Amino acid sequence: MFVDEDNITDLAVRRWATAHSPRTAELMTALVRHLHDFAREVRLTEDEWMAAIEWLTATGKVCDDKRQEFILASDVLGLSMLVVQLNNRFSPQATPATVLGPFHIDGSPAAPYGFDMSEGIAGTPLFLTGKVTDIAGKPVPGAVIDAWQADADGAYEAQLPEVDEARLRAKYRTREDGSYCIRTIAPRGYAIPMDGPVGDLIRGTDISHFRPAHVHCLIDEPGYRRLITHLFQEGSAYLDSDVVFGTKEALVVRFTERPAGPTPDGGSLERPYLHAEYDFVLQPCD
Ligand code: BEZ
Ligand code: FE
Repeated sequence: MFVDEDNITDLAVRRWATAHSPRTAELMTALVRHLHDFAREVRLTEDEWMAAIEWLTATGKVCDDKRQEFILASDVLGLSMLVVQLNNRFSPQATPATVLGPFHIDGSPAAPYGFDMSEGIAGTPLFLTGKVTDIAGKPVPGAVIDAWQADADGAYEAQLPEVDEARLRAKYRTREDGSYCIRTIAPRGYAIPMDGPVGDLIRGTDISHFRPAHVHCLIDEPGYRRLITHLFQEGSAYLDSDVVFGTKEALVVRFTERPAGPTPDGGSLERPYLHAEYDFVLQPCD
């Protein structure tokens, strides 16, 4: 069969339908159809096609074991968050999921109730307290909350050449009544990395390249769906323009100002601090 503009899509779809795995065949034939539709819709020129190839090549070249520019591209296109939504359709009562982001590290240290994961790092003290429960409100004891965040300047340790050890991250275990207490400092909103091909694209738009202030939490408890989420500070800048589309109303939490004095971990502080209360509600496995 010879090729013309009208039959090329069917020919390519039929070829890719021969993939040995049925799922690969489904993925590849749909990809071919959508790519061809895209090229037809925008009447893609040869120069534009080459510019796209060069952009993809540059994106690959800046990736290494610390940096993943393709994931960042997926994030700013809204694809990462769409995939999260498609795969985490929890009950309305459950805490919603959001993007993992590139700064999670396996193997954060285990921390006791009230442990200060910001020890030695400047910032406004913040206590996060609440319970982990199931959707009926029953406490989940022994659940591990893996928490991590940026510092008061909006930086993760991977972005600071002078910092070579893990910081602002720890794994807290809930008590018998499902309660937890994380002591840290208030995070700050931050810009995504703008010195690569994703930044080059964004600079040509009116897109804000910032994320609102947040603390990441991951809870992977047997019997429940793994929950990857954030808590966002109420009133933070960029809540309605998060560059990676990660914000959800149910994840916005008030960071209440408290005077110097007793703290939620049973201790006390000689300076004012912030206190956020949030109950994580886990979705049971089907
Ligand atoms: C983060 O929240 O850590 C993050 C998520 C997506 C892109 C960049 C950073
Ligand atoms: Fe983050």
